[in-house]
Amino acid sequence: MAEISKTIRLNNGVEMPLLGLGVYKALGNDAQQAVSCALENGYRLIDTASVYKNEDDVGRALHSSRVPREELFITTKVWNTAQRLGDIEGALLRSLERLGLSYIDLYLIHFPVPGCYLETWRTLEQLCRSGKVRAIGVSNFEIRHLEMLAQISDITPAVNQIEVHPLCANTELVSYCQEHGIAVQAYSPLARGACRNKEVLQQIGSQYGKSAAQTDLRWLLQRGIAVIPKSVQPQHIEENAAVWDFELNEIEMQAISALNENYRTNDFSEHMM
Ligand SMILES: NC(=O)c1ccc[n+]([C@@H]2O[C@H](COP(=O)([O-])OP(=O)(O)OC[C@H]3O[C@@H](n4cnc5c(N)ncnc54)[C@H](OP(=O)(O)O)[C@@H]3O)[C@@H](O)[C@H]2O)c1
Repeated sequence: MAEISKTIRLNNGVEMPLLGLGVYKALGNDAQQAVSCALENGYRLIDTASVYKNEDDVGRALHSSRVPREELFITTKVWNTAQRLGDIEGALLRSLERLGLSYIDLYLIHFPVPGCYLETWRTLEQLCRSGKVRAIGVSNFEIRHLEMLAQISDITPAVNQIEVHPLCANTELVSYCQEHGIAVQAYSPLARGACRNKEVLQQIGSQYGKSAAQTDLRWLLQRGIAVIPKSVQPQHIEENAAVWDFELNEIEMQAISALNENYRTNDFSEHMM
């Protein structure tokens, strides 16, 4: 079994695994089996969202595993519709029910919906105080959104989940978050497969007996960035967790950083007006 993930201490003292499984676009049995396989391979963090429509599948896998609840770290996210309706607590309660859990470890605002996200943040603060959520954070927030939050709240998001991978280094936003005590969690850390054919990653990885995907994840982890690669294939789930037994040197880190082309796998402009 792969080594259980190292953790990062969030700004409220909660420990978050640096590696987790993402389940976007995994549905039904695929999602359930992927989560079960990940737990067997040492993963403890699962990243879902109400909009992924698989919280119930994730919940079934969590309950059929023997991993104690306190060892798990479950992230889910409040979708834009609930923000527009002002139904944040209702959305959380429905997520909890689908997951079959009494609390969420990390609850994120999925997008900074204009005109809504500041109010949503205030509600998340209350939910955190109520104990239904251990940590609160954001996703897809740019510096301007984080600065607005800082103006209205004394509570800094514990996490900003954003797109980062070797083809999209996102350096300015990553630095801003890290300087302000916001842990960065990379979504689409493998650029949805676009990184695996990059010769630089293949060549560097081969010196350590590692794949391009493992080298990509290791580059992120060495930048202090948490990762949530998605896979429904047992062999990839196992491979993506085997990233703790090698270290890239400074020259290799720079060679991978040079791959940056500000390439985004997701076009979320409609959610980001
Ligand atoms: N907050 C947000 O707005 C947001 C946006 C996007 C994603 N996310 C989260 O981030 C997670 C990961 O991002 P993502 O799903 O967009 O993309 P990703 O993790 O970068 O890439 C997933 C793709 O890579 C393949 N893959 C996985 N491991 C591999 C390996 N070792 N070798 C070769 N191919 C491999 C997967 O195929 P197989 O399944 O066949 O292995 C899948 O097609 C999501 O699942 C979701 O939880 C959040």
